Amino acid sequence: MEPALTRIGTQMSALTGVRAIMKDIIETLRAGQGQTFINLSAGNPVILPEVEQLWRQNTLELLDSPEYGEVVCRYGASQGYEPLVDAVIADFNQRYGLTLNRRQILITPGSQSLYFLAANAFGGYDHQGQLKRVVLPLSPDYTGYGGISLEPEAVISYKPALDIDEAGHRFKYRPDFSQLQINAQTGCVIFSRPSNPTGNVLTDEEVEKIAALALPFDVPVFIDSAYGPPFPSLNFTEMKPYLGENVVHCMSLSKAGLPGERIGIAIGDERIIQVLEAFQTNVCIHSGRYGQAIAARAIRSGALATISESIIRPFYQQKFVCLEAALTEFMPDEIPWFLHRGEGAIFGWLWLRDLPMKDWEFYQHLKQAGVIAVPGSSFFPGLREDWAHKHECLRLSLTATDAELTEGMKRLAAVVRTVYQSADQSVQSTPQRSLTSH
Ligand SMILES: Cc1ncc(COP(=O)(O)O)c(C=O)c1O
Repeated sequence: MEPALTRIGTQMSALTGVRAIMKDIIETLRAGQGQTFINLSAGNPVILPEVEQLWRQNTLELLDSPEYGEVVCRYGASQGYEPLVDAVIADFNQRYGLTLNRRQILITPGSQSLYFLAANAFGGYDHQGQLKRVVLPLSPDYTGYGGISLEPEAVISYKPALDIDEAGHRFKYRPDFSQLQINAQTGCVIFSRPSNPTGNVLTDEEVEKIAALALPFDVPVFIDSAYGPPFPSLNFTEMKPYLGENVVHCMSLSKAGLPGERIGIAIGDERIIQVLEAFQTNVCIHSGRYGQAIAARAIRSGALATISESIIRPFYQQKFVCLEAALTEFMPDEIPWFLHRGEGAIFGWLWLRDLPMKDWEFYQHLKQAGVIAVPGSSFFPGLREDWAHKHECLRLSLTATDAELTEGMKRLAAVVRTVYQSADQSVQSTPQRSLTSH
């Protein structure tokens, strides 16, 4: 049978962004009989023993407590399991000197669903038929934003400005405020901080400026803190959650070892939270309560924040150092390669300027060398204009072992050398071809 799909059905059943490439990666790994790949594509966090133990311990305590039946045998409030809501409030109020109340918190089944609710409650066509934009202020950003709107034309992102350290082979993206448009046509703003895929952390000034641009239009700004403090604290540079009148601080417990339990947390103005809560009730009633119950315990005891800082952050920070060292050792100095500054998250972002082929083709060459990385063009949702840079980047996962990262960068450097050299040779043998045509 071939079920007839609606416009939304067709659109939502398509694989977007990185999920399309993941299919190819899974097939490659399966078909690889005998060939072992260094897989630097993973977005799944590493199972760290101390983190697993934290969740196991809290599960055992829950199983042994009279709370258990209440948790798994009953429905609850759409807003979230009360002990988790209270634990978040107490933690944030104490840690950051805030005065949050219950109406300012919403628990969602993972944070991806939170962005879906936000993008469709505030973005899309309004009552006058006007398209309200879901603005991503700095592209590249999280690939999952590409599929969150039921009206995909609503999602729009902006090319960044680039700070380049030529000699040091490093760079950093900055929002380009001369291009960014936040106005009466904006429905909401979303960005990740720290960013997946780049590890960028927008500065406090940049965040303040974005929030200030949105405020006069009553536009909510969702700051995706899936990697931010206080959990999982995957920031390698000093940063604090940014809260403001029109800002919703969005968290996820996925990178704090609980991706399977699907827990997202939104903190913000109660008028925004109420809209999202009602939308959530219509979609799925509420997030699973077992995960929420163990999360409440881990947050209340302080253990989650402590383990985030003492175990999760150092683990990935050390991986980034390992990646940097391997690139410095193996990459040819004369080739214009640039690693994005590692300010957080669980990825390295490599830009190969003037790469003489598209990132997808480079990905195929890397596969031949037994290395899998994610082509960067999957991470520019909402950026419709053509920009060579979109096809010159790669995302490298820090979930691999040190040995895999080192060997992977050695092989990558060899592939880089070959493809740039063969392009040079073909330019020399066909002088009419200009380098800029790449
Ligand atoms: C930046 C960012 N936001 C949101 C998500 C979605 O996470 P979850 O739905 O598991 O909370 C991810 C997942 O990788 C992410 O990297």
